[in-house]
Amino acid sequence: MKRLLPLPLLLVLGFAIAADAPYPLDAPAPDGRRPGGTLTEEFTPPPLRDEENKDLRRERNYPEQPPTIPHAVRNYQIDINGNRCLACHSREASARTQAPMISITHFNDRDGQTLGTVSPRRYFCMQCHVPQHDVEPLVGNDFKDIDTLLYHESTSEEDE
Ligand code: HEC
Ligand code: HEC
Repeated sequence: MKRLLPLPLLLVLGFAIAADAPYPLDAPAPDGRRPGGTLTEEFTPPPLRDEENKDLRRERNYPEQPPTIPHAVRNYQIDINGNRCLACHSREASARTQAPMISITHFNDRDGQTLGTVSPRRYFCMQCHVPQHDVEPLVGNDFKDIDTLLYHESTSEEDE
């Protein structure tokens, strides 16, 4: 008990010091995806775009990429009582619904054991899968997929 006593004291002291310190809360914010302003300023966020909902599966940039969702998912519930996505994408449902079955990786737990049903770490689908939107990328990049890289390699070898 004796050793624990100083902790609350330290906390009180800490708050007192923090309250006095010139805390730069209203410092200018970096000009990133949220442009300019100061840190405490609130801007109106851009409106949410509608999901594309074209039912067309998009090419993946690399095989491990979680495919984007080609259909609307608004109001699809995922909680302790049920998982709307699995109502179509589970092993049992996919023949009836013609939705692609979740792949084998979704059945594996973190020890590499294959479970009988979706692994808890893959339960919340939208942690990894996002609906398709017709929007410009927020951050530019010059990513090239493997086929493009191999094509350039083989054509530059032919040149030599
Ligand atoms: C009513 C059935 C149904 C429900 C519910 C559903 N899906 Fe789908 N999903 C499909 C079908 C069918 C396809 C095949 C493409 C299409 O027709 O849109 C598909 C395609 C997909 C794909 C594309 C797979 C690929 O290889 O490109 C992903 C990812 C996906 N769904 C994720 C989800 C997620 C996440 C949820 C829940 C938020 C969900 N789906 C709920 C029927 C469903
Ligand atoms: C931790 C990230 C993660 C979560 C959570 C997750 N997925 Fe995936 N999903 C992936 C990745 C990565 C791939 C592509 C590689 C693979 O199959 O593992 C994929 C592939 C898929 C595919 C395509 C399968 C195929 O054979 O082409 C479907 C359909 C899918 N996921 C649906 C779902 C649904 C439905 C859920 C929720 C129950 C879900 N995923 C949860 C990462 C995730």
